[in-house]
Amino acid sequence: VDLQPFNTMAIRARAAHYAHVGSLDELREALEFARRRRLPILPLGGGSNIVLTGGYPGLVLHIDLQGLAVEEGPHGALITAAAGENWHQLVMHTVARNLGGLENLALIPGRVGAAPIQNIGAYGVELRDTFEDLSAIHIASGELREFSKADCHFAYRDSVFKGDARDQYIITRVRMRLPSNWQPRADYPALLQYLQEHQIDVGGLTPARVAEAVIAVRRSKLPAPEKTPNAGSFFKNPLVDETAYLALKQAYPDLVAFPAGKCWKLAAGWLIDQAGWRGRRIGNVGVHDRQALVLVNPGRGAGSEITDLARAIADDILNRFGVQLEPEPRYYP
Ligand code: EPU
Repeated sequence: VDLQPFNTMAIRARAAHYAHVGSLDELREALEFARRRRLPILPLGGGSNIVLTGGYPGLVLHIDLQGLAVEEGPHGALITAAAGENWHQLVMHTVARNLGGLENLALIPGRVGAAPIQNIGAYGVELRDTFEDLSAIHIASGELREFSKADCHFAYRDSVFKGDARDQYIITRVRMRLPSNWQPRADYPALLQYLQEHQIDVGGLTPARVAEAVIAVRRSKLPAPEKTPNAGSFFKNPLVDETAYLALKQAYPDLVAFPAGKCWKLAAGWLIDQAGWRGRRIGNVGVHDRQALVLVNPGRGAGSEITDLARAIADDILNRFGVQLEPEPRYYP
């Protein structure tokens, strides 16, 4: 199977085996097939956070589990979504019912099952803020297990599923609890600026209006994958300690950074932009012209073109600023 239609970078790569999974039984069957043949497994949702660096020798599991339930109660609304549900549609479904909590995460590509893995976040909100728990199939035993919020070890773009539990589980269902006492979160600079420019009163915000603003801001900066293949932010925003931050701030007074506990989170997009990469094209691939943190694949080149470009950028940023950038999407195989 050619995986090009299944990854938003539109990289051509063949998978040795592929299975569409629409139920837990189909999932268990597919895992049994992989176990017997000792195949590695690539669980695929929307394919919006992966870079295929070559053909995949194992089994690609296209997780298409469906189902969405909303239970409203005195302690807020409990949202239960199967892993294969489209993330943005889930957000819009809650917003349409005037339930707040997920609106800042509108238009993030991908499926529900991938959201906890990197604790998706945007415009001042992360999944962990409303996350309740999840169910996942343990690949080795086939058992269904529950993970509480504490079990997930959420951090900035990180969870246990990128650490100790990496490659050991297939997430099947996620639950979120949306508060009954919702307050808008509109303090993220780009979002606030949009609201001010459009003279939208922050006091009268509804979840739907916040979602609308988030969608507009995202559309103005981030390329639509259907038109210009990409995987969103290509690097995580690096965390540096106070000493490193102060030294950089002195050398570059315009440096964009946000306090993060004892550390500072630097805007990697700003660093890459300063280094002159924004809008550059090399062969089939390049750096988006409105957001330097996004690598694009307009010529539908090979994964190696993307990883070469990413390495060149990371080397340059390390040389110039002494800061190590880490890719955000996962490389396969
Ligand atoms: N900036 C530049 N030049 C650029 C890009 C950014 O100067 O080319 C500056 C901006 O002006 C701004 C700052 O850098 O002052 C931050 O930029 P932006 O608000 O666009 O956010 P980001 O830090 O680049 C992060 C997330 C995005 C998320 C936005 C909004 C990461 C790795 N990325 O980007 O998430 O949508 O904030 O919250 O944390 C993703 O993960 O795929 C993603 C798109």
